[in-house]
Amino acid sequence: MTYRVVVIPGDGIGPEVVAAALGVLRKAAAKGGVNIEYEHCLAGGAALDQCGEPLPAATVAAAKAADAVLLGAVGGPKWDGVAPHLRAEKAILGLRKALGLYANLRPVRVWDALAPHSPLKAEAVAGADILIVRELSGGIYYGARKEAHVADAPDEAWDTEIYTAPEIERIVRVACRAARLRRKRVTSVDKANVLATSRLWRTVAERTAAAFPDVRLDHLYVDNCAMQLVLAPKNFDVIVTGNLFGDILSDEAAVLAGSIGLLPSASLGDGPGLYEPIHGSAPDIAGQGVANPIGCILSAAMLLRHSLDAKAAADAIEQAVEAVLAEGYRTADLYRPGLTRLSTEEMARRIEEEI
Ligand code: NAD
Ligand code: IPM
Ligand code: MN
Repeated sequence: MTYRVVVIPGDGIGPEVVAAALGVLRKAAAKGGVNIEYEHCLAGGAALDQCGEPLPAATVAAAKAADAVLLGAVGGPKWDGVAPHLRAEKAILGLRKALGLYANLRPVRVWDALAPHSPLKAEAVAGADILIVRELSGGIYYGARKEAHVADAPDEAWDTEIYTAPEIERIVRVACRAARLRRKRVTSVDKANVLATSRLWRTVAERTAAAFPDVRLDHLYVDNCAMQLVLAPKNFDVIVTGNLFGDILSDEAAVLAGSIGLLPSASLGDGPGLYEPIHGSAPDIAGQGVANPIGCILSAAMLLRHSLDAKAAADAIEQAVEAVLAEGYRTADLYRPGLTRLSTEEMARRIEEEI
């Protein structure tokens, strides 16, 4: 059979890291006997420029009909001034909604070769292995919001956070199932000392996890969690949290790994999955060929594993990444004297050769 993958390069470094990941995906798929047909689609600022809207209906239709979507990143200063409904970021929020992607898996792995280079103490981060399970289709991202003006000047604004018990139940179930395949611990993160949505979250998390007696559930307030993540990252196994907290904590957790350019993600629902690095379009380094493509390359590995049932090909990519890092190859974000500095493209080619 032939799988169909929609490819959305997006903006800034998006097209650079997607080109790199596609080379690696092609190599791993060919070697593993996985047949893939690719369709390139527009979204984000690139789509706004070409079609007048950040998420064209054709892109949504192609994504819905595909087996999986690989996305680079969207957004950038060029489009920061547009009306809220035209913002490049709307593309990604719209795609997540249209595909029903409620479970965002963000694995944070500290590769042995990188622990000594962490801004944190090597002994604190070496061996840390965390899976952040971020609720992706609800919460304050999708509640009603308002930006009111007085005499043409912005004057008052509000956003609302809504969570329902079924939304919390299904994401906590994803976390508990994932924990069963790992170290069987789930930390639920909320702000239940202040927020009503968080009190509901905690109650429903307790109730849901009770059906997984082999999994140990504990709770942390998000402010404490932010501290514990850098203080004692090895104490975490699976973290489950809402949309906004998961967004923030995963960028923080990227520091453990060494660079945000390393972190992949899978967004899953009941249909096709969407795979993207957790970083953005990095306008400060776009167009220079220096972006780290590993987050996007590992997203392609997650795509093979979760959407194309191709575990061996996914493993091959992850092993190649580990080997290339162990051999001292680095993009600019992780380069240190004595190691070998590679461009985005060179890093991708090195990983392809390793597969
Ligand atoms: P960012 O993640 O783009 O960049 C933050 C910092 O990390 C920058 O210094 C950047 O150079 C660095 N960085 C990011 N990816 C890197 C990589 N692969 N290799 C090396 N360094 C890397 O976050 P930002 O600057 O806050 O956002 C820029 C734009 O991206 C904004 O428009 C934002 O809305 C958008 N964004 C999009 C997504 C997405 O499409 N999923 C995610 C986050 C941010
Ligand atoms: C991410 C990004 C997005 C988010 C933005 C671009 C809407 O930061 O994927 O982490 O906040 O979810
Ligand atoms: Mn983010």
